Amino acid sequence: MAKTKTVFFCTECGNESPKWQGKCPACGAWNTIVEHAEKAGPVKQIRRESIGASKTAQKITDISHNHEIRFTTGMAELDRVLGGGAVAGSLVLVGGAPGIGKSTLLLQICNSLCSNKKVLYVSGEESEKQLKLRAERLGVLPDSLYILSEICLSDITDTIGDVNPDILIVDSIQTIYNENNDSSPGSVSQVKDCTMSLMQISKNQGITVFVVGHINKDGAIAGPKVLEHMADCVLYFEGDNNTPYRLLRAAKNRFGSTNEIGVFEMADRGLVEVPNPSQLLLEGRPEGASGTCVACVMEGTRPVLAEVQALVSKTSFQVPRRTSDGFDYNRAVLLMAVAEKRAGMKLSAFDAYINVIGGLSLDEPGADLPVILAVASSYRDKPVHCKLAAIGEVGLTGEIRSVTHLNQRIAEVARLGFDYCIIPKNNSEKLDLPDGLTIYPVRNLMEAIEVAL
Ligand code: TYD
Ligand code: MG
Repeated sequence: MAKTKTVFFCTECGNESPKWQGKCPACGAWNTIVEHAEKAGPVKQIRRESIGASKTAQKITDISHNHEIRFTTGMAELDRVLGGGAVAGSLVLVGGAPGIGKSTLLLQICNSLCSNKKVLYVSGEESEKQLKLRAERLGVLPDSLYILSEICLSDITDTIGDVNPDILIVDSIQTIYNENNDSSPGSVSQVKDCTMSLMQISKNQGITVFVVGHINKDGAIAGPKVLEHMADCVLYFEGDNNTPYRLLRAAKNRFGSTNEIGVFEMADRGLVEVPNPSQLLLEGRPEGASGTCVACVMEGTRPVLAEVQALVSKTSFQVPRRTSDGFDYNRAVLLMAVAEKRAGMKLSAFDAYINVIGGLSLDEPGADLPVILAVASSYRDKPVHCKLAAIGEVGLTGEIRSVTHLNQRIAEVARLGFDYCIIPKNNSEKLDLPDGLTIYPVRNLMEAIEVAL
């Protein structure tokens, strides 16, 4: 019998250590180290099986190039985040807070997947009857969809053998347990074991596996790195419970970019794709109010427009208060210092609150200028023209620096009915100017404020 070895894992960063400690030596988190009993011995064998290749090294030129085979999931927004469709034989981890819509999304894609593939949906959370009710409500009743309500890993693998599906969906990894492992379902040890087994099944039999993972209170999938390094693709489903909009983003993708976002709306009959997010993000924008400016950022290959709001008011504290939602706090503080020094705004005597509407995070340099214009607009209490958008990175000397994909951005700005756009002067050559859009190339912050206000 194989000997068991006890190791300890950090649930935050996945760091492995031989003894328990109060503080993780790798990431510095407290009380995150948990015990994991690992079977010593068959590791080598498992690795070999999982790779499924011969033991001798081959010349790269001799290896027949099997192109990755992609197929569509029937949801263009999901395909986009996966890098142009799901890759056959890959393992995709879908993480998100409870109730965000993970089960709904995966059940919905079954409709299109089943048109030419066999799908096995394993749920450890709902009974077959509950799943049937949900599927009926979503209108997902294809012939080649098999449902199994089970939490024991060996029973699941038996069923996989019987059904022989092309696609396996496991909802959720935290409910599945391996009976050879003593720890309780949902523990790092179980989650790691079960994901490893599913990965082996996926690689050996060429089954595409979608695994649902719940996120813990800190926003990480339980045992995050332990799972992330095994999966080919890690997607996070985000959204605010108060709004029906959901964003799907890739945190890791072996077969594509991780910059893309997918946008969905939770409706009465499940998730509906939102192919035009800019329109949605700009909905209900106040007109003629000071302290708002429209930004255009690249989310992967797609330009997205979003509204930035700022409120600047006289402070009653020694140190002014600043908050930033949807934009990096330190960057916001830095931009305000630039505005103070280079544009003469006495912001040190004012509190400033910045907010990006619609739950989007603007983590791209092109959003600097609209943020600072929103602040300037609130500071001077003068509105930015409601048909004006701004694009540009702001440097420490107050210069406006060039951004990537400007043609795509201004095309989107024009498509959404804007009349004016402030852009960096350095970028203004070789532009395909869309009809009806007037551009204002600017060199520095002063010029930009002059144009906007
Ligand atoms: P669910 O997919 O069960 O979430 P998860 O698997 O991520 O925990 O989604 C549950 C939520 O979605 C629940 O609050 C109800 C809502 N919902 C709708 O609004 N419309 C629908 O058609 C469905 C199926 C769910
Ligand atoms: Mg669920």
